[in-house]
Amino acid sequence: MLSSTLLTVAAAAVASAHTVITYPGWRGDNLITNATWPYGMQWIYPCGGIGTTTNRTFWPTRDGTVAFQPGWFQGHATAFIYVNLGFGTDGPDNGPQNMSNPMVPPFQIIGPSKNPYPGSVCLTQIPLPAGANVKPGDNATIQVVELAIHGAALYSCVDITFAEPGDPRIPEVNETNCINSTDIGFADIYTITTKASGRANENDTVTNAAWALGRSGGGLLAHLGWLPVVAGGLWVLL
Ligand SMILES: *[C@@H]1O[C@H](CO)[C@@H](O)[C@H](O)[C@H]1NC(C)=O
Ligand SMILES: *[C@@H]1O[C@H](CO)[C@@H](O)[C@H](O)[C@H]1NC(C)=O
Ligand SMILES: *[C@@H]1O[C@H](CO)[C@@H](O)[C@H](O)[C@H]1NC(C)=O
Ligand SMILES: *[C@@H]1O[C@H](CO)[C@@H](O)[C@H](O)[C@H]1NC(C)=O
Ligand SMILES: *[C@@H]1O[C@H](CO)[C@@H](O)[C@H](O)[C@H]1NC(C)=O
Ligand SMILES: *[C@@H]1O[C@H](CO)[C@@H](O)[C@H](O)[C@H]1NC(C)=O
Ligand SMILES: *[C@@H]1O[C@H](CO)[C@@H](O)[C@H](O)[C@H]1NC(C)=O
Repeated sequence: MLSSTLLTVAAAAVASAHTVITYPGWRGDNLITNATWPYGMQWIYPCGGIGTTTNRTFWPTRDGTVAFQPGWFQGHATAFIYVNLGFGTDGPDNGPQNMSNPMVPPFQIIGPSKNPYPGSVCLTQIPLPAGANVKPGDNATIQVVELAIHGAALYSCVDITFAEPGDPRIPEVNETNCINSTDIGFADIYTITTKASGRANENDTVTNAAWALGRSGGGLLAHLGWLPVVAGGLWVLL
């Protein structure tokens, strides 16, 4: 009862706000297909065709939240999701030098169908990328990438300014803007090495096997805080 009410509220909010990154905001509406963007603007790396903005939103230096609506377009019954951070403003277009700093392990979403759906995903307590060294007042850009089943990716970004956690300028996170819809499932992504990288070294087989083990072990551990892992690595929320 409660969750269906929330879902309706979320659906209404999303439909009227027309957003993809629903929290903490986005650079702007890039759900555009026209003669300039015949395939759709949102496929353009790194931020779906929208340049760096100056109406930045405040985001905490730890445990931030990102909510997004992955199913605005048709065709996303499943997709891989990446959330990255780009630091600073000394790169192209007065934005970051790169968007190469993952904030969460990539994961798969399992949507209700290939049709557009209004559901949302809300990631909470997001850590900063490994090695990040930011302080309140620093600027950065959060990028959400949705990798479609055919290998092309949709990009959406939001420009942020870091603030001390609890700073009143950080938009409130609550049950209307931070929802994991019941109709969107998550799956863990992991790889199995079927052929190790081949350098002619007698020690490589062992090294690579150990690396692969360490990697999948670390991946699973890293995921535990994020996505409860059950047998098969596949589960549906609620
Ligand atoms: C920044 O301004 C653009 C253009 O008005 C708007 O679409 C976007 O939602 C704003 N972004 C934020 C984070 O407020
Ligand atoms: C397509 O949309 C973009 C963004 O609104 C706009 O800048 C561009 O001029 C449009 N192109 C055409 C051909 O209408
Ligand atoms: C962060 O971005 C805002 C808006 O673009 C700008 O006014 C401010 O000077 C920037 N701060 C730093 C530390 O670059
Ligand atoms: C990405 O940008 C950061 C600065 O934000 C820089 O330290 C790092 O070397 C860059 N990485 C690559 C691969 O260019
Ligand atoms: C939830 O937070 C947003 C700001 O992020 C605010 O506009 C909205 O009123 C809040 N909703 C509730 C029910 O508190
Ligand atoms: C293989 O590993 C052993 C022990 O670490 C080392 O002594 C040996 O030199 C290595 N062989 C090669 C070809 O790298
Ligand atoms: C949504 O699910 C993710 C992944 O399990 C979790 O980290 C996050 O806290 C959930 N969001 C809410 C609002 O419960």
